[in-house]
Amino acid sequence: MPDSPEAPRFLKACRREATDVTPIWLMRQAGRYMADYRELRSRVSFLELCKTPDLATEVTVTAAERLGVDAAILFADILLILEPIGLDLEFAKGEGPVIHNPITESSDVDRLRPMTSAEPLGYVMQAVSQIRAALPPSIPLIGFAGAPFTLACYAIEGGGSRHYDRAKAFMYRDPGAWDVLMRQLTDATALYLRAQAEAGAQVLQLFDSWVGNLSPFDYKRFVQPHMRRLFDALPADVPTIHFGTGTATLLEAQRDAGGSVIGLDWRVELDEAWNRLGPEVAIQGNLDPVVLLAPIDEIRRQARRILDQAAGRPGHIFNLGHGILPSTPVDHVRALVEIVHEGR
Ligand code: CP3
Repeated sequence: MPDSPEAPRFLKACRREATDVTPIWLMRQAGRYMADYRELRSRVSFLELCKTPDLATEVTVTAAERLGVDAAILFADILLILEPIGLDLEFAKGEGPVIHNPITESSDVDRLRPMTSAEPLGYVMQAVSQIRAALPPSIPLIGFAGAPFTLACYAIEGGGSRHYDRAKAFMYRDPGAWDVLMRQLTDATALYLRAQAEAGAQVLQLFDSWVGNLSPFDYKRFVQPHMRRLFDALPADVPTIHFGTGTATLLEAQRDAGGSVIGLDWRVELDEAWNRLGPEVAIQGNLDPVVLLAPIDEIRRQARRILDQAAGRPGHIFNLGHGILPSTPVDHVRALVEIVHEGR
């Protein structure tokens, strides 16, 4: 859709074109803070939900419509891709994700199955096409995947972690095996994201949620070349969002790896970060998700501050600096959407 005046404002902002008002969507906009979602989850496990396209469609579309946001994000999870490559994934109650057969030795990398087709994740592509058909044309659909470093952290740690010490120790101990692992994850992710775009995803976001644990030196050695290869393997006409948290010292290196839009968390000032990155990228962010637990006046003050920092430059997509917390009141999220649409 080249530059037609009717192009959805979210797509225009991804291309750094001027918009009537600032577009907004929220990471984890479908989830446990919503009563309908909790009700559905009392009957269906999280993995079953992800693997049932009708339900994933319902959850995605309901959240986008309820909130009045400018984009919908596919309901799925970054860890689903680990199953077809041979890792045994479970979402244990109250514990978050667990991988029962994590990679511990260098030789474990050899037992991973290279992904030769996106077919084992066909249920995701089915959901993408159903969601695209169910959404109004004014609401673009975002597809997504985990970035290789964040996926490697889960694959090696076997779950969440505080210091990512096992993953990082693996990287330092055997850079050769690390490289093989990262290449394999990169190839699988590129295949998966291309399939999502073919099925109807109009923008692709890469979640490198845990990359902020690396020094800039290590990022450039162990991650950046893979990210560059990944972005280069994505369709050139589909905008991409490159997101991480704790990335204040990595932003330029992330930009150099790729992405039409750089996602910021709340630990950086949006204007300073954008000035550093320059006018060639769009910016997504960056309200602290915890601000949504504050009174509406505080939400308004902080949202307007971010809009002031963007100062009407084309290419700002309003979002949180990380996902919505389960304790967030839905009314506050709707209020935020209205505040951002009202403008400064
Ligand atoms: O944003 C959306 O609304 C789309 C769906 C989405 C989910 N996970 C659904 C989900 C997206 C984009 C993700 C990405 C994801 N998953 C990330 C990257 C973003 C981030 O938060 O940093 C990560 C690290 C994961 C891995 C993951 N999945 C964790 C650590 C957890 C457990 C923590 C938690 O919040 O429960 C999940 C589970 C998960 N993924 C839920 C949802 C709605 C909750 C599952 C439930 O219903 O219990």
